[in-house]
Amino acid sequence: MDFQPVLEEIVASLRPQLGLEGQVASYIPALARVSPLQLGIALRTCDGQEAHAGDSLTPFSIQSLSKLFSLTLGMREMGEAIWERIGREPSGNPFNSLVQLESEQGIPRNPFINAGALAVTDRLVTLFDAKAQMLALLSSLCGETVHFDEEVAASEASTGFRNAALANFMKSFGRIDNDVSEVLDAYFHHCSVSMNCLQLARAAGFLCRDGAHPFAGEPLLSERQTRRINSLMLTCGTYDAAGEFAFRIGLPCKSGVGGGIVAVVPDKLTMCVWSPALEASGNSLLGMKALEMFTARTGLSIF
Ligand code: DON
Repeated sequence: MDFQPVLEEIVASLRPQLGLEGQVASYIPALARVSPLQLGIALRTCDGQEAHAGDSLTPFSIQSLSKLFSLTLGMREMGEAIWERIGREPSGNPFNSLVQLESEQGIPRNPFINAGALAVTDRLVTLFDAKAQMLALLSSLCGETVHFDEEVAASEASTGFRNAALANFMKSFGRIDNDVSEVLDAYFHHCSVSMNCLQLARAAGFLCRDGAHPFAGEPLLSERQTRRINSLMLTCGTYDAAGEFAFRIGLPCKSGVGGGIVAVVPDKLTMCVWSPALEASGNSLLGMKALEMFTARTGLSIF
């Protein structure tokens, strides 16, 4: 299938809607300055075919898309032990909610809410230089050198009161081993990585290849571990909108408040859409529409 005309048509038909609905994330001041009038889409198939359209080469802040890759690092390094302090249930709550942590003894519902990613990051900080390892993983997976946006990391650190609360609360339950400040610093840097749609479509490629590195082909994760990440994306990757995503799109997806969404069609392709204006749950509004159009036009779905 030639995907290029499909992506171009999706971008052309959604462009008139840019700026009409949704809000750019404003709780991180550096993100509030991003223009909402941008839309990009890119994909890479298992056999290496690529297609991209719109603002697909414009770098943006990956934000919670990093949670996909911190979990990958955690699973690769720790195997089953990563699940000792993290659940696998959808939270049905906003991504930065504190409410369940109290009754659930500081064990986050899943690795894709902020509390869960902080717990994963803590384990990574114990093992190695978590910031350097994240950059090394992402650069290797997309075949280009990627960087932190230090301004975004500093901006988030200056307003990250909820994340500080989550990390301290988990620490009070004995679920965080390292200094909270060190865990937060790694987490904020992971979220601040700047990448474009094409780089992310490539980087996620192991998720449609049973865990094989998208370029080198060697196993990054096992087939079983990869299936588990995809299932977590479907149930937890878009927070309290996960049901709506499964209903409208029917693919494992992971979103970030920078406006990016990564989606996986197992054994076929990975893709990334980006448009900065968000709906109430923190997912890209037009990104969601673009994915819905893509699955409707191609018939690709896991169902
Ligand atoms: O910790 C935060 O709040 C942000 N750095 C990331 C949140 C995020 O991307 C949620 N995704 N939709």
